[in-house]
This record gives sequence, structure tokens and C-alpha cells, in this order.
Amino acid sequence: MVANRPQQTFYRSGDLFQKMNILITGGAGYIGSVATELCIAAGHKVVVFDNLSQGHREAVHPDAVLVEGDLADTAAIDATFVNHPVDAVMHFASRTLVGESMQQPFLYLGENVTNGLNLLQSTVRHGVKRFILSSTANLFDEPERMPITEEERIVPGSPYGESKYLLERVLSWLDRTKSLRYAALRYFNAAGATAERGEDHTPESHLIPLVLEVAQGKRDKITVFGNDYPTRDGSCVRDYIHIADLAQAHVLALEALDGGSRIYNLGNGQGFTVLEVIETARQITGHPIPAEIGVQRPGDPPTLVAGSDKIRAELGWQPKFPNLREIVESAWNWHQQHPHGYGK
Ligand SMILES: NC(=O)c1ccc[n+]([C@@H]2O[C@H](COP(=O)([O-])OP(=O)(O)OC[C@H]3O[C@@H](n4cnc5c(N)ncnc54)[C@H](O)[C@@H]3O)[C@@H](O)[C@H]2O)c1
Repeated sequence: MVANRPQQTFYRSGDLFQKMNILITGGAGYIGSVATELCIAAGHKVVVFDNLSQGHREAVHPDAVLVEGDLADTAAIDATFVNHPVDAVMHFASRTLVGESMQQPFLYLGENVTNGLNLLQSTVRHGVKRFILSSTANLFDEPERMPITEEERIVPGSPYGESKYLLERVLSWLDRTKSLRYAALRYFNAAGATAERGEDHTPESHLIPLVLEVAQGKRDKITVFGNDYPTRDGSCVRDYIHIADLAQAHVLALEALDGGSRIYNLGNGQGFTVLEVIETARQITGHPIPAEIGVQRPGDPPTLVAGSDKIRAELGWQPKFPNLREIVESAWNWHQQHPHGYGK
């Protein structure tokens, strides 16, 4: 493990470490494109593998190589490893919608898992020993303690969460049998934007971009699902982590992998209520953002906040943008620069 590593200067750790060739699946998507940006800023070289089903060509960093391909296509994955040097893989490409996974479980328990296995088989076959998985807070559907630490009991909340957990289990076996060193990063709610890259999902399901769509006049109002939870204002509390902080955790985890595999919960460590997010967006945008109160959604717990002490202690990770205001402001700046999203 890395207990003796000195505390790192935030966002400059890449200077201290070996430069790597990184294959980033889903590097045209929201989080993968920002991870690409930060890996390149840290001096690494990046090949993005993406089928552009959700991602955007314009989101891919100009210094990265884009391979358009689908993870169902094992020959295309293999060709990528043959045609490009790869020292490490970051796997973001996935179906990502919890609700859709409840309707169409095979898309997730089948496709997400099979695609991950395809990628892992090529990774192992080509002798690559470092792998980072985008996992999720949806592993913790019935948390007994808050904040949620890595010791919390795993209870996937959906086929989506289960698909991530299955890949975590596969990784633990590949560590034992093939010496593949991995990090599983269980993200809470990614939010915000860098100057050049932001959130453009179709359909959009995340609170902050939905609230900003009201401010942009694309929606009439935002629905708050429940104001009778046992929280400070009755609405749900969630942990929003700035996308650059999330991406930076990948750079740090990559550099630490030679010291052994690791699993981290990754959030800001602070919870904000839905009503606080809306009020913050009102202040930043100057728009009244009408909100209506709807009923609670089944399966929405009152509070979900990450305990991220482990990654802070082991990797020296610290969120640089922990305040809700900075997170919403960065998203708003990006949406103002890109009123119709990428390339539209
Ligand atoms: N956004 C969040 O708050 C959040 C929270 C927890 C976990 N995650 C996980 O993080 C990862 C990235 O999420 P995101 O919000 O950036 O999603 P995203 O949809 O913006 O990005 C996913 C990318 O993968 C690509 N892709 C999908 N299926 C593919 C396939 N079969 N072959 C090749 N490319 C494919 C898409 O085109 C897209 O560019 C996902 O694995 C998601 O489950 C996200």
C-alpha cells in the first residue's frame, strides 16, 4: 500500500510519476472526457475508445487519439491494444441509467457486464496490469451508517449497481489470478464542469443540469421528489463531487496502483439538499427556477453522503471545489458557453 507516500500537492502529482499510455473507454462522455483532460495535463498519453452512443466527438481532448468502436466488438478492442501502446486502462464506457436498468435489466446485467469482460480479456491478453473501474454509490441501497464508508454492506440498488459490483468481483479475481492491479472508484454524484468540458446527456437525469435547463428556458420547472424526508429541509440530501476532483482521483489512483489494488468511495463528503441546489442555482443564474413538490420516488433514500477518508489518507486526494456554489457556477458557465450542448 502507499502509507509512506508524502502528501502530494494537489493536481501536480503527475509531475512526480512515470508517464503512461492510457486507454480510456467512454472518453467522449461526461466524466471520461474530463479524466482524459486531466491525464493529459499530468503528462500522460491517451487513446479514447468510444462508440459515441452518448458521448461527443467534440468532448474528446484534441491531444487524445479517438478510436470509434463498441465494447461489444472484441476484435475492435484487440486492435486498439495492438495499434496503440497501453500501460493502463480507465473504464468509463457503460450504460448509466438506474431507472432504465430496472425496466431493462438485461441491458445492464448483460451488456454492461459482457462489455466489461471483453475489455478485461483484452487487457489481460495484452499484458496490461493497471485498470480503473467507474463504480457507483448505487452499491449502497440500504446504508446503515452515514457517511458511507468502504466497510458499508454492499446492497446494489438496481441491475445497474449490480453490474458494477459484478465487475468489481471480476477484478478482485483478476488481481489474484493475473496480477491485474485495479482501483474501483465508487462515485457519488458527479457535477460541474471544467472550462471546456461539461455535462450533455440525452436524456438528462441529473439534478444540476436539469435545474440549469429551467434557467435556460428549456424546461418550465423542476420537480422536487418529496419534501417530507427526515432531513434539514425535507428534501433528499446528496453528495455532489466536482468533475475535476473526481477525474483527479483517477490520476492519483493510477499512480498508486503499483502499490496494490484498492477500492474507494468517492464523494465530496458533504451533503446538499435538493432545495439547496435549486436555491444556489437561483442565486447564480438570477432566474426564479420554479419548483414543484412531487411525491417521493420509490427507493430514494433520504441521505447519501460518501465517506472519503480512505482516499484522502492513502492518496492525498482532496476536493479542490467542495462548495456547492463553485460546482453549480462551473456548470452554469459551461452551459452558457454551450447553450445547446456539444457541437449543436
Ligand atoms: N455521472 C455520474 O454521476 C456517475 C455516478 C456514478 C457512476 N458513474 C459511472 O461513470 C461512468 C461515466 O459516466 P458518465 O456520466 O460520464 O456517462 P456518459 O454516458 O457521459 O459517458 C459514457 C461514455 O461511454 C460511451 N459508451 C457507452 N457504451 C459504449 C460501448 N458499448 N462501447 C463504447 N463506448 C460506449 C458513450 O458514448 C459515452 O461517451 C459510467 O460508467 C457511469 O456508470 C457516473
